[in-house]
Amino acid sequence: MSESIIKLENVSKTFRLGLLGKTVIKAVDRVNMEIRKGETLGILGESGSGKSTIAKMILKIYSPSYGRILYRGRDIKEFKGSKGLKEYYRHVQGVFQDPYASFNPRRRVLDVLRDVMKNYYPTLPPEDIDREISTALEKVGLNISEVAGRYPHEFSGGQLQRLSIARALLVKPEVIIADEPVSMIDASTRIDILNIFIDLKETEGLTVAIIGHDLGLTRYASDRVVVLYRGQIVEEGPAEILNEPSHPYTQMLAKAIPRIDKKWDSKIEYGVGSLALGATGVGCVFADRCPYAMDICRREEPPMVDLGKAKVKCWLYTKK
Ligand SMILES: Nc1ncnc2c1ncn2[C@@H]1O[C@H](COP(=O)(O)OP(=O)(O)OP(=O)(O)O)[C@@H](O)[C@H]1O
Ligand SMILES: [Mg+2]
Repeated sequence: MSESIIKLENVSKTFRLGLLGKTVIKAVDRVNMEIRKGETLGILGESGSGKSTIAKMILKIYSPSYGRILYRGRDIKEFKGSKGLKEYYRHVQGVFQDPYASFNPRRRVLDVLRDVMKNYYPTLPPEDIDREISTALEKVGLNISEVAGRYPHEFSGGQLQRLSIARALLVKPEVIIADEPVSMIDASTRIDILNIFIDLKETEGLTVAIIGHDLGLTRYASDRVVVLYRGQIVEEGPAEILNEPSHPYTQMLAKAIPRIDKKWDSKIEYGVGSLALGATGVGCVFADRCPYAMDICRREEPPMVDLGKAKVKCWLYTKK
């Protein structure tokens, strides 16, 4: 097993809502997770399951309420102040869902890329800066002449997402955290963007965490996956576990994909849960939607059960 670059140890994030902050949402609930060198890790879950909150904590946009996040064994809260953050972002970069929101609409894209280079490599001569930018652009299938002079709105969403990846690559990071990098771009170009991450992993050993809500795309892009529900990891293992998921929640996600072999019984009914509540703290987080829920599921939190390949947080797999 390769070394862990990012490690989440018992990480929770709560948000307080309402006038007096009386409503507490557990967006992320005691998550243990690692991102290992040279892998693509898929983080899968429905809307509101805590995926972006995890990404934002790893990217130091939010700090955890409990637990800690380590980068190569070092608590990332030690990277503080503008100098500390800059050092951290040399290693860990983010790519976000909406590529238009990640570029200042009033600045030419090439100038934005040059600013990044000037910020990180202040002594590098302009011709070297452009050479580095060219190299990064080639890695995402673009060249500098087609980018020169153009503003963000003059690119398609897919092209602009390639440009966000190129921008992340400029500092030669070790890890990229990509939060739903293809969900807002044209369906026909999604695979091409995912292939960029896969290529970067294979040719340069880049480590990538790819967040997604689409089981098929996440399986395609990932070596390993964690499945989140209401802020908790409910299943994890190599990506092929998604072919035959063990957790009823993952099975539900898989059922949403039409399959020729009709592996999943389409008659099974799932309840409608309130995802927006975050983790409840009593019993299993999925019990109110689970077609197999037993008494114990509503009373006691299930343990993480090791099934060999997959680990699954479900009472169905415990020996009673
Ligand atoms: N800044 C915030 N303030 C209050 N609540 C928040 C905040 N950010 C997220 N939440 C809540 O935390 C929970 C998890 O949100 P998060 O954005 O991490 O989910 P997600 O899995 O990324 O969903 P999506 O697929 O919609 O992007 C949700 O209930 C959300 O409403
Ligand atoms: Mg999100």
